[in-house]
Amino acid sequence: MTQLESLKKIEEELNDLSEFANSVIQEAETERDLDEIRISLLGKKGKLSNILKNMGKLSGEQRPLIGQKANILKNQLQECLSLRKSRIIEDALKFKIENERVDVTIPPLGTPLGKKHPLLSTQEEIIDIFCGLGYSVENGPEIETDFYNFESLNIPKDHPARDMQDTFYLSNNLLLRTHTSPVQVRYLQENPPPTRIIAPGRVYRRDAVDATHSPVFNQVEVLCIDEGINFSHLRGTVLTFLKTFFGEVPVRFRASYFPFTEPSAEVDVQWKGKWLEVMGCGMVDPMVLEKLGIDSEKWTGFAAGLGVERFCMVKHQIDDIRRFYNNDLRFLEQF
Ligand code: DAH
Repeated sequence: MTQLESLKKIEEELNDLSEFANSVIQEAETERDLDEIRISLLGKKGKLSNILKNMGKLSGEQRPLIGQKANILKNQLQECLSLRKSRIIEDALKFKIENERVDVTIPPLGTPLGKKHPLLSTQEEIIDIFCGLGYSVENGPEIETDFYNFESLNIPKDHPARDMQDTFYLSNNLLLRTHTSPVQVRYLQENPPPTRIIAPGRVYRRDAVDATHSPVFNQVEVLCIDEGINFSHLRGTVLTFLKTFFGEVPVRFRASYFPFTEPSAEVDVQWKGKWLEVMGCGMVDPMVLEKLGIDSEKWTGFAAGLGVERFCMVKHQIDDIRRFYNNDLRFLEQF
């Protein structure tokens, strides 16, 4: 073969390689395919090297010519490989996006039903039990005057009992009620005895927050006035209520003091192995009745204030009052 024929042959082989390589590269589907193709074309033992092995058969002037052509081809193939590579990566991303697309217009698999908040259920349960005993439900305002919240309940200004109920004042005379007891007075002003009412509602105290105290909580006030009501009626009613609400549960009556009842008691039940106060109660102080123009010789009565949160905590063994207000669904969904 003459040198010229060798040159022609190499040139032809380079052209064929170019054509072959371009089509193989276009057919590559993965980066791995591409890698193998690159090695088979441009690697040490690849097709290009193979062709160039025959350079020895060329003349001194012909070699640089082929060298240049081979370089151009090499650059072009590298360019082609990298273009294909970007394309493969792009396609893979497109495929991924396409397949992971979420159709936000598909309707959800049913909407979870809401439930009653455990405090509401507890309040309703308490109301139900007292309604069963012949009581009716009354309400009063959460913003109270000094008169209804304190004065009318035998708690004059500077009375130490005001310290028991650290108060949020709105003005000199207006405050957030610290208990539901003012509803007793409001009701009796309008309705002469006999009386059997309960008054559920929110109350406010400047208490430090801890596992059993919250600055806002719920009470149910109980008031029973009739002829001949005495402490055993109070005790019987409270015990009947507790038994209906809790079932059998250890109960303790503890002598206590409230300015609007005499005698007064607090009732504790067992919670987390300790006694927890769940209500205050007592015989309505005759002073309170007389101030309302009610004959305390004829009418006597008892009253109680129940802490709804605490009843709920004891019933469901809840460890911390703050759980009621955090609105953590994992907690609320259990009820
Ligand atoms: N009002 C009292 C309080 O919140 C609780 C209470 C005690 C209510 C005795 C009463 C009662 O009706 O007779 O601390």
